Parts: sequence; structure tokens; C-alpha cells
Amino acid sequence: MCGIVGYIGLDRAGSVMLDGLKRLEYRGYDSSGMVVSAGKGFEQIKRTGRVVKLEESLKEPQLGGNLGISHTRWATHGDVSEANAHPHTSSDGKISLVHNGVIENYNGMKDFLAGKGYTFQSETDSEALCNLIAYHYDKEPKDGKKNPFHEAVRKSLRHVEGTYGIAVVCPDFPEDLIGARKGSPLIVGIGKGEHLLASDVSAITHCTQNVVYLDDNEVVHLKKDNFSISTVSSKSVEAVIHKVDWDTSEAELGDYDHFMQKEIFEQPTSLENGMRGRFSDDGSTAFFGGLNLNPQELCQIDRILFLACGTAWHSCLVAEYLIERFARIPVEVEYASEFRYRNAPLDKNTLVVAISQSGETIDTLGALREAKRKGFRTLAINNSVGSTIARESDGGIYQHAGSEIGVASTKAFTSQIMICAMLALYLGRLRDLSYGDGVQIVNALKKLPEQVKEILKQNDKIAAVAKKFAKYEDCLFLGRQLMFPIALEGALKLKEISYIHAEGYPAAEMKHGPIALICEDCPSVFLVTSGETFSKSLANVQEVKARKGKVICIATEDCDIPDGLVDETILVPECHEIVKPILMSIPIQLFSYHVALERGCDVDKPRNLAKSVTVE
Ligand code: F6R
Repeated sequence: MCGIVGYIGLDRAGSVMLDGLKRLEYRGYDSSGMVVSAGKGFEQIKRTGRVVKLEESLKEPQLGGNLGISHTRWATHGDVSEANAHPHTSSDGKISLVHNGVIENYNGMKDFLAGKGYTFQSETDSEALCNLIAYHYDKEPKDGKKNPFHEAVRKSLRHVEGTYGIAVVCPDFPEDLIGARKGSPLIVGIGKGEHLLASDVSAITHCTQNVVYLDDNEVVHLKKDNFSISTVSSKSVEAVIHKVDWDTSEAELGDYDHFMQKEIFEQPTSLENGMRGRFSDDGSTAFFGGLNLNPQELCQIDRILFLACGTAWHSCLVAEYLIERFARIPVEVEYASEFRYRNAPLDKNTLVVAISQSGETIDTLGALREAKRKGFRTLAINNSVGSTIARESDGGIYQHAGSEIGVASTKAFTSQIMICAMLALYLGRLRDLSYGDGVQIVNALKKLPEQVKEILKQNDKIAAVAKKFAKYEDCLFLGRQLMFPIALEGALKLKEISYIHAEGYPAAEMKHGPIALICEDCPSVFLVTSGETFSKSLANVQEVKARKGKVICIATEDCDIPDGLVDETILVPECHEIVKPILMSIPIQLFSYHVALERGCDVDKPRNLAKSVTVE
């Protein structure tokens, strides 16, 4: 959500930042802009729309320069306009800033600054902070003892209530770039004779793989050849340099048309990578390196509380079914944003698990911090190495799914479910799950990549089904037991990229209200698997058909669907219960993708959405 790239060093600031913004565009794409030191002084360019609009407006000298800050925006305060786009420059022209996050006390700041003669061009909270830095800069002694620009940033941040990741420049200091973070990620990239700032490593891996993750309340002062970190309250901080093991081709489309499509097709590999090296030699259980909990401690857990948002929350619901069933540990699932403010009473032997692809979702991070504050052991299931959630949890499991750029989560979802299935297996084997049952589960998991490949071969068939159904404006997704969270996920995928109104329900629950929606123009996608609820699911299908509702049935191959009952059938391979949620997810992803294409929607940049939600 919003992207920042800052640069200091060689004469290529504009082009490095432009590349970085393109890589960050999935974080926000309402408008973009940059301030760059080009020739005579600093120049500011802002454009509404996609980064390509900014690119078209940049002139040759602006692609050079040795210093700059840039931003791609997802609007929070103020509509989409050039005035509201970042960077913001103070009314005295002394400070330019880009900002991610929300300054909660910006109204008070604005009143104070207006009284001191500062004026405002935008409706944003960020401009208030920019002017506040200019105000402190104006007051700072310029006697050479302390850097007045650096001091002004630090002093201003002491007055901020809310969250920020910022990059700041001052034309009086053309050799200095300053960044700071609180609640919104900011990373320092260390190159040869150059330094970068970014809200996300993917923006800078084309320049360097050596990074420093800033912590909250830290301020970094970057020069061409060196940098120093201190806290907002002026304590110096030792930088820890990490090497990012990042395949830069992940940020490129290659032969695909869209990142969502690419990531759907990457699932055989992402699943394989997530399980590699994580099965026991006897083939009956899984294990994880980073849990930081030994088997004795894990056996004392009475309850697990899962916290997440959006698609990751659906993974938690699958985890609830799997862990209760295979490990017999009671599980609760909460929206992170609700848990955080709810003050729920929890038993002291509760393990808190946060699931987050990005590891930066502010609601999940806030809930995790709240759980830690109350003294609970916390784990994170996370796809982004070095993310804030990964660093702040007591232990964790990396998904190793590779970077996910498509705004609609696909490969991260199936990888989260797979990790939860492996966790259910591991916890189950520490309790009552037999060796034989463990072996069956391990074998089922190992078959996944090949089975996913089989489903992907049905891409054309699913595209043809999508073509027929793309005209409807409403759709229900229905499934029982483990298929209920997949129904929720199907509805979310469809609505977020094609803007069709879609709802997911437990199939039996349909009779208690949603059935009123069923008609010729409201199709249903049924997720049907073999097992004890199979015949009940078929009865629910009959109820829809009796009301002239069209039905797409996604089913496992061992389901005997009566001829002529449903309008379309998509089959997935017969499989163990534990992997059904993964295999059944693939057709709903492809279906949503093709419906959105058919409706002419921008699949990778859906309306109003952005990847990684770092504001509350
Ligand atoms: C939907 C989607 C979102 C995210 C949610 C949490 O396709 O991607 O619902 O799942 O914003 O994001 P993470 O997992 O990064 O915490």
C-alpha cells in the first residue's frame, strides 16, 4: 500500500527510482511522483494514474541526478489528484517528503503551522508533516555542530501520532537523504557508492542485495558512501546488514500476461518449495526449523488462536478444520483488526499464530503485538523474509512461495494452507495421530505439485466456463466443512478482480437466507468433495436447481455427480482430505481470473485495492 523509493549516490537517481516504482506499482497505483536533483536544483514531477504516466513526463536530466525521493500512491487522505500525490514540498520550499502511513494528529499540526504562516496545497496528512519538518528546520541553529536537516526530521517525528515510513530531502543538503519508520516498513539498500531507501525489498533488488531493515522509531541518515542509524530520541543504533536471497526474475512477467496468471501457474513450484526439507526421515511427520518451541512446550498448548486478514484469514479457517481434526487442539480464528481492540480473555496456554503473506499488514501486526504484550507465545506463517511480522514474532514458518506481486493472492494462499496442513500433521504426531496416518498425509502432500499441474491443464476448459458466466452480476460460492473457507475465498477472488457481487456460505446455511438470491441470473459455484457430507451437498445443489439457479460444480473425481444435475463440472484429482482445500482452490482461482479478463478488468491492478495493507 503506497510505495517509496529514495536514492543517493551515482548519477542515475531518476532511472533507479523509476525502475523501483514500476516494481512497487502493485502497492498502489492512483498516482506517482518524484523529486530529483537534476542539474540546477531539485525538480518535482507528479502525475495521476499509473507509473507509466510519470515515465512519459520525465525528461532526460531527470532520469539522472544523484539524489531523489519517489512514491506511488494508494489514496488515504484526499482524492486522486496531482496536488495530493507525493512528494510534498513545504510551502517555504525547504523540505520535500514522501510518506506511507497515516498521521493521526495532522489536523492539529496543520492549525499550528497555519498560525506560523505555512500554507497547504493538498488534503493530505503527509503535507502537514512535511511543513512541520520545514518549521523545525527553520528554527534549528545552522552553526555546523549538528546537521540541522537531520535534527529537524527527528524533532518533528517526536510530535507525530500515527504511522510513517518517510524519505526526506532538503535542497540545502544535496548530499543527504533521510528516512524513518514507525509502523510502516522502510528498508535501506547498500550499494557501491550508492544507497537506497524503499518500502519493500522488491523495489531495490535490481541494485543491491544487501539491506538493513529499519525498526520502529529509527531514523537513517544516508550519504553516498556511508550511513548512520539512530532513534527518534537520538540514541545511535548498530546496523545489521542482511543479504536478500531474491530471484529478480520473480518481479518480471516472463511469458505470462499477468502476475496473477503467472502466480497461479507457479503453484506446483511454490508448494514444492514450501515442503522441501520439512519431512522426517521416516516419512510420517513434518518439522519446522524456526518454531522456537520444543515438542514438550508444544504438547502443553491447550488452544491455538489464528489471526489474519482477507485471504490469509481464509487460510486460518482451513487451519482450524485441519488442526482440530488431525491434532485435536481447539482452534479459534479471529480477524486481526477485531482481536486487536476486543480484549478477548485467553487461556495462558494459548499459542497465537499470525498468518500474513506480506508480513507487513498493519492489522495483523497490531494484533500480534497485542498478543505479545499480554505475554502469549507467538508464531508467524509468512512469505516475506525479514518482514516486520517475521521479525517480531517469537518463532515462525516461512512459506517460501516466492514473491507474490498480483494483488489477488493465489500461490500464497495455497502455500499457507499447505503449511497449516503440515503444522496439523506435526502437532498431531506429537499427540494421537498414528504413524500410518502420518505416512498417508506425507504421501498426499508430496503428490500435490503433480496434482496441481493436472488441474492447470484444464485452464482452457475453465476459461470457456468463465466466458459463459462472466455476464452475471451476482454469484454464490457454496461448500461444506473444509470447502466452506474455499467458498469464502472463491467469492473474494471473484469480487476483487471482476467486481461481481459474490458471497461465500456453508452450503447448508444457504437455506437460512441466501437462497432468496437464487434465480436465473444468480449462479452458484458448488465445491463438492467425497465423504460424509457429499450427499448433503448434492441435496443443496438440487435446492438451487429447483429455483432455476445455474450451477458450476467443482468436485473431486471420486464424486458421483448425477448426469444433467449441474450446468458445468470441473473435476480435480481424487486425494486425501487434508489436501482437498489446496486442490479445490486452483479452479476457483482460474475461474475468477478468466471471468475478470472476459469483463475487461485489470486483473493485476484491481480498482481500489493494493497489495499489503499498511494502514488501519
Ligand atoms: C486478497 C488479498 C488480501 C490479503 C490481505 C492480507 O486476494 O490478497 O485479502 O490476503 O490483505 O494480506 P497479508 O497476507 O499480506 O497479511
